[in-house]
Amino acid sequence: MTASLEQLRRCHFAVDLGAARTRVYVKGAGLVVDQPSVAAVNTRTGALIAVGEFAEKMTGRTPGYIRVVKPVSGGTVVDIEMAQRMLRQLLGERLRRTLRRKPRLRAAACTPHGSDPLAQRAAVETLVGLGARRVELVDTLIAAAVGCGLPVERAEATMIMVCGAAHTQVAVLSLGAIVTAERIPVGGEAVDHAIVQHLRHQHELMLPSQSVRPLQLALSGNGLTPQGPASTEIHGRDVATGLARSVRVDTAAVRDAIQTPLTAVLDGIGKVLRNCPPDLVADLADRGIMMVGGSALLPGFDQMLRHATGMPVHIAERPEVCAVLGLGEMLDGRIQPMALDSVST
Ligand SMILES: Nc1ncnc2c1ncn2[C@@H]1O[C@H](COP(=O)(O)OP(=O)(O)OP(=O)(O)O)[C@@H](O)[C@H]1O
Ligand SMILES: [Mg+2]
Repeated sequence: MTASLEQLRRCHFAVDLGAARTRVYVKGAGLVVDQPSVAAVNTRTGALIAVGEFAEKMTGRTPGYIRVVKPVSGGTVVDIEMAQRMLRQLLGERLRRTLRRKPRLRAAACTPHGSDPLAQRAAVETLVGLGARRVELVDTLIAAAVGCGLPVERAEATMIMVCGAAHTQVAVLSLGAIVTAERIPVGGEAVDHAIVQHLRHQHELMLPSQSVRPLQLALSGNGLTPQGPASTEIHGRDVATGLARSVRVDTAAVRDAIQTPLTAVLDGIGKVLRNCPPDLVADLADRGIMMVGGSALLPGFDQMLRHATGMPVHIAERPEVCAVLGLGEMLDGRIQPMALDSVST
């Protein structure tokens, strides 16, 4: 699926349509959009009311006739028309005009590892609707590895873990290609869901969707490790009475609740390592795992992996934008093509 570097260099813009955030890189302008993949629509008139951050703030706070929708779900564009409208709005008039001026507009997009042809088709259709005449697809794992500066083209193993909202992808790369990879359907959303369920079952408290992050921050510092604060105060709504209520939540119990989805990620890493040739596993023992994606910032996630795998674990510098910046580097031609021509004798 991965397009050639030559084709990518001819693209004018690159898009990473994620389950949580949409990012756009425009050649010559850099990263121009980094906003939540959310749109608010007036269901009476069909008009788009807001997109990105504004629309996200409306989640759970709208009157009946306004619906907040996510055109991307599970890493796949599920509503092509809405995704196009959202992207158009996020790009803004000025950038749209700049792109329209290109004679044969070309776009690049990253797609999750192992995504099916229908999902790939949806990504392509979305960008074609924006005026692209040709769309190159790049595996997110490759784009992210390039974006965080891993030496992917060398004959040594590097392990990358893309921790997104909908899923976590793990791969071992060598010589610019994926040797083994796994996509685990667990990401930041599953972690948030585990926290919400925990509070509902243990404290009979309904947590507003926008309070999950503050709770994670309360766990932070030492988050998933046992040295964090023992408890923290959370406000929500009582499940039975419907009244506002605060509870003191035991952070150790929240940690246990989060642990369950993260175990699936550990299983995935184990599977990748088992399928990997022994020479490459030996390289990995010193280089370790590079974590990218927004969920890599989950407090204590790296420590947990270090503890579970015994390997060094690093978090990339700007983990959440690595994939789109990797695409950007390919567009700008900053990545040298690999010299893998056959040796003539
Ligand atoms: N500081 C943070 N602490 C914990 N979680 C975070 C933090 N920042 C972002 N996240 C989580 O990271 C996820 C977003 O990551 P990212 O932007 O990589 O997702 P995405 O690319 O939209 O998703 P996907 O690649 O799965 O389609 C969200 O689920 C969010 O909850
Ligand atoms: Mg992503």
